[in-house]
Amino acid sequence: MALSGRRVLLIVSGGIAAYKSLDLIRRLRDRGASVRCILTRGGAEFVTPLSLAALSGEPVYQDLFSLKDETEMGHIRLSRDADLIVVAPATADLLARMAAGLADDLAATALLATDKPVLVAPAMNTRMWDHPATRANMAVLESRGVLRVGPAAGELACGEVGEGRMAEVADILAAIEDALGRDSPGEPSLAGLHAVVTSGPTHEPIDPVRYIANRSSGKQGHAIAAALARLGARVTLVSGPTALPDPSGVEVVRVESALEMLAACRAALPAHIAVCAAAVADWRVANVGAGKLKKGGGAPPALELVLNPDILAHLSAPGPGRPALVVGFAAETGDLLANARSKRETKGCDWIVANNVSTGSGTFGGDANTVHLLSADGSESWPPMSKAEVARRLARRIAGAFAVGAAP
Ligand code: CTP
Repeated sequence: MALSGRRVLLIVSGGIAAYKSLDLIRRLRDRGASVRCILTRGGAEFVTPLSLAALSGEPVYQDLFSLKDETEMGHIRLSRDADLIVVAPATADLLARMAAGLADDLAATALLATDKPVLVAPAMNTRMWDHPATRANMAVLESRGVLRVGPAAGELACGEVGEGRMAEVADILAAIEDALGRDSPGEPSLAGLHAVVTSGPTHEPIDPVRYIANRSSGKQGHAIAAALARLGARVTLVSGPTALPDPSGVEVVRVESALEMLAACRAALPAHIAVCAAAVADWRVANVGAGKLKKGGGAPPALELVLNPDILAHLSAPGPGRPALVVGFAAETGDLLANARSKRETKGCDWIVANNVSTGSGTFGGDANTVHLLSADGSESWPPMSKAEVARRLARRIAGAFAVGAAP
C-alpha cells in the first residue's frame, strides 16, 4: 500500500469543505496510513468529533487545555509523532495564525511545535483568498517550506464563483503521497552539496533616487532556494530587491544591481549547483548621475544603456570552477520552446526552465507557473502548479541527477 505505516496528523478547521476531510481520512487509511485528527472549534461546527474518531479509529484532539487530552498525548508529541501534518480545510484564519506564529488553540500550537512537513489545503471565499492579507500569509508560509495544494476554482458554497474551493480529495492525496515520498528513505538528498541561487529583479540606478527595474517578484527563485535547502543542500541565495522574507535555512546575500549580483555569485563559488532564476536587467545606465537629475525645463535626458554581464553565461562557462549542474530560466512571451532551446545553447547551461511571462499568464508576481524543463536530452512539459511545487520538483530532479551521477 502506497502509504503503509505513514502517520498523518490531520487538522480540520472550520469550513464547509470539512466534509471532504472525512473522505480523505477513509482514503488515507485505505492506503495504509494511520490518521490522527485535531478538530478546531470552527471545524466542530461542520463535522463532529465522533465522525472523525469513527473514521480514523483514533481519539480526536480538540482542546489545548484538556487534562484528558494532555495526559493521553501531549500537544508536542501529537505534532512530532506524525510524518506529515495536513491542514484540510485550512481557513484564512488558521493560515493567518500560522503565519503569525500564534499558539492560541491546539491546532496552532501543534503547528508551531512541529518539526515535520506541513501541507495546507486552503478553502475559503474567493475574496478572502484574494485578499492581500491572505496572499501575504500564504507567501510567508510557503517561504518557510509549508506545502500547499489548491485551492481550486469553481462554484463556492457561498454561491460565488472563483478560486477558493478546497482541492479535491484525490489531489490532496496526491500531494500527501508526494510530500511523504520526499522523506522516504532512499529519496535522493543534496546533503554535502552547495547551491547558488539567484532570485528577484535587479535595480539599475539612473541617479541616486531613480532606477530601472522589472516585474520579477522573486517568488520562484526563493522557493527554489528553500526547496534545495530542504533536501539538505547548503544554499546561498543571491537576491535582488524583493518584498519576500528570507527562506529558512538559507544564507541570503542581498544585492541591487546586475554587477553586484555577479560579484556576489562569484564570491559564493565554489558550488556544485547554480540555479539562475533572477530576472537580471539586460542593460544598465552608462553614466549614473552623481546627483538627482533635474527637469530644468530643457529636453528630457537621453539614457545611454550598456549591456550587463550575463550571470548565467558566466556561471556556465567551462573551467575548473564551473558548478557541475547549471540551471537557467527562460522568460519568454512567444516561441517558448524554440527560444528556450537556443538560450540553453548560447548561454551554455545544462538545463533550462522555460516559462511564459506574456501578459495574462499571471507568472510575474503570481503564485502559479507552467514550465517546461529542457536539457541536452530533450524537453518535458510540467502541468500547471504552484511556484513552490515547481521548486520542489526541480530540487528533486537536481537531487536525482546527483544521485545517479548524471549531473554533467
Ligand atoms: N540571466 C543572467 N544575467 C543576465 C540576463 C539573464 O543571469 N544579464 C539569466 C536569467 O537569470 C535566466 C536566463 O539568463 O536564467 C534567461 O533570462 P531571460 O530574461 O529569459 O533571457 P535574456 O538573456 O535576458 O534574453 P532576452 O531578454 O533576449 O530574452
